[in-house]
Amino acid sequence: MTASEPSAGSSGTSAGDDEVRRSPACALVIFGASGDLTARKLLPALERLSAYGALPPEVALVGVARTPMTDAEFADYCRAKVPGTDNPRWAALTAGARYVHGGYDDPDTYARLAEVLEDTDRTQGTAGSRAYYFATPPRLFGPIALSLGKAGLSEAHGDGFVRVVIEKPFGWDEDSARELYDDLSTAFVEEQIFRIDHYLAKETVQNLLALRFANSIFEPIWNRTWVDNVQITVAESIGVGDRGGFYETTGAMRDIVQNHVLQVLSLFLMEPPTSFHAEAIRDEKVKLLRAIRPLDEEAEIAAHAVRGQYTRGGTREELMPGYREEAGVDPLSSTETFVAMRLSIQNWRWAGVPVYVRTGKRLPARTTEVSMQFQRPPHLPLFPGIAAGLEPDALIVRVQPDEGLSLRFGAKVPGHAFRVQKASMDFSYESFEQESIDAYERVLLDALIGDPTLFIRADEVGRSWRIVDPVLRFWAADTRPIPLYQAATWGPTEAAALIEREGRSWRR
Ligand code: BG6
Repeated sequence: MTASEPSAGSSGTSAGDDEVRRSPACALVIFGASGDLTARKLLPALERLSAYGALPPEVALVGVARTPMTDAEFADYCRAKVPGTDNPRWAALTAGARYVHGGYDDPDTYARLAEVLEDTDRTQGTAGSRAYYFATPPRLFGPIALSLGKAGLSEAHGDGFVRVVIEKPFGWDEDSARELYDDLSTAFVEEQIFRIDHYLAKETVQNLLALRFANSIFEPIWNRTWVDNVQITVAESIGVGDRGGFYETTGAMRDIVQNHVLQVLSLFLMEPPTSFHAEAIRDEKVKLLRAIRPLDEEAEIAAHAVRGQYTRGGTREELMPGYREEAGVDPLSSTETFVAMRLSIQNWRWAGVPVYVRTGKRLPARTTEVSMQFQRPPHLPLFPGIAAGLEPDALIVRVQPDEGLSLRFGAKVPGHAFRVQKASMDFSYESFEQESIDAYERVLLDALIGDPTLFIRADEVGRSWRIVDPVLRFWAADTRPIPLYQAATWGPTEAAALIEREGRSWRR
């Protein structure tokens, strides 16, 4: 499928559907085949895809990594990483797996890879098509792409396709993102590059499209006339665990806001696309990102962006270390593990509606949700004061856990008195019989099929950096100590102040 063809696959099928979407013949080449991402995410996803018949026998698995292994040892490795399955298709896929051992900057690695791929074309019917998945540290993305280009492995031949799949971070700021883009572009054109944001593959994130555009009741209220504010929360209860070293150079802004938060935000608030073609959706997302006004003046950043870092907390039963006590973290670190921001969107639909976003590690709960809070009633004719203190009406999309939707509104409490209390109409994904598909299963299959809808385009990456870069620069130059919050609390007091000074509060 090309970028301009319908991408109903992503938005319309599931493992439980009668008609299973199938990968075309190709070699799936995983760089970093002996690494953590491959073991934790890719191999389990491939096993499940093979189990429901999405990977025909003409799909070959090829691993490339620095760890020495033979083909047979790599096959054993793959099987060992997905224990307890008696799926015969997985056994067949791994039995035919090939492995190329070598350095990522060594031309010989690519020469041998070329031989292996010619061989899979002959013996496994992979038809000259290749999908390269870079499951390596991001600093290797550019060099691997350059090497593939030099070895002549980036060009498609005949009817075959060549794609490259990469996962965030896409650069460190706007400039380095452009450098990465330049490196990738020496060997690949944009249509060949599939940038993963696994949040886009979450069932409920995709449900945003169904909610907004498969119904007519929401559209009339989806604007500044009815909406008072929008809140996006990506809260994690876990700390950085054993990823301290990585997190030290990343922080919550680069790890979550630049990508997951802005992607969810743009899908939720973009204009209706003219079709569900991948490019139509991505055009609308990037238009929305362009309409977000970057915070640029220092006073504005100080007022509208808050960072924080967790300190030791929890309970006697479950003591949680502070961030600076985590392995691999500088004991004097000022890396942020929490971010809250107030964004404004400069377009006709959303002018004047603040969008509050927050994310953090070691918050009291794991929850990702988008909530749209509606204007208060303009006048309460009979019982003034009755609704005072009542939280505003809201539409809440719960991305995880308990995937679903809630509409919160005021209802009379039964009894003699006229008391109003918040009630909820709830929809839960559990009411569907079909199971949700794991995000990696979906993105892997979409990449093999060539459906770019759930992948991020280069212009979206650039725009997202432009939103967060000024804040990151401001924080880097800020000599004041980073605000702290105790583990298992909702961030520093500055985060509450950011929204409360505007007469609103974070949804709990
Ligand atoms: C990743 C971040 O992109 O998303 C992690 O690097 C974070 O720090 C993870 O924990 C959260 O993903 P999910 O799917 O568990 O919400």
